[in-house]
Amino acid sequence: MAPLLAPSLLAADFGNLQSETERLAASAADWLHCDVMDGRFVPNISFGIPVLQAIHRHAQQPLDVHLMIEEPQHYLAAFRDAGAANLTVHYEACPHLHRVVQQIKALGCRAGVALNPHTPVAVLADIAADLDLVCIMSVNPGFGGQSFIPNTLRKVAELKELLIDNGSEALIEVDGGVSLDNAGALVEAGADVLVAGSFVFNSPDPVQTLADLRAYLTATLAGTAQDQR
Ligand code: DX5
Ligand code: ZN
Repeated sequence: MAPLLAPSLLAADFGNLQSETERLAASAADWLHCDVMDGRFVPNISFGIPVLQAIHRHAQQPLDVHLMIEEPQHYLAAFRDAGAANLTVHYEACPHLHRVVQQIKALGCRAGVALNPHTPVAVLADIAADLDLVCIMSVNPGFGGQSFIPNTLRKVAELKELLIDNGSEALIEVDGGVSLDNAGALVEAGADVLVAGSFVFNSPDPVQTLADLRAYLTATLAGTAQDQR
């Protein structure tokens, strides 16, 4: 499967969310990544349900909602109603993760679990088969524009193995510090979805940057396929 691209709107111009969202309609973006932060689970506050609703009104792509919040179980239905296609909760925020995952699926959303950089992938062994998505944080969650943590590459490869061993078809998403510098290596390690915030929106032309990323990955993957012949 060609990797999916999910630009993170956290790095977009919040004063112009309609035009920011609309200009991505004709871009290489497959999903729009929306970062919800509560100032408790992470030391920052971003946006919540009404803003997600507004994004959804103008979006053409599915909304990939990353909940960096405590007790996400109370808000899942509201985020689904606001337009979330994917709901990703943090392993570290959910003592009853199995129940939360079932709740997300019952709402008709893709169920995702995110892991902080210090959380080993092994903790997902007994839930892997129930998941649609695993998000490996390649920075500490809470802020855009941070540096990619190199250990992520090893973690993605380990997760790939864990998913295969447990008969899971979950997609592997990588979030934080993703750019042309690491995108190829991440996909080669097993990443299916790349989230990119500042790399896309801090560039002179986000639509062109997404097209460049897509072209680069297509070329990299074609090279890999040739090497394996
Ligand atoms: C970080 C968020 C990320 C963030 C990525 O807590 O989960 O989605 O927007 O931004 P960059 O690509 O700038 O690291
Ligand atoms: Zn995110």
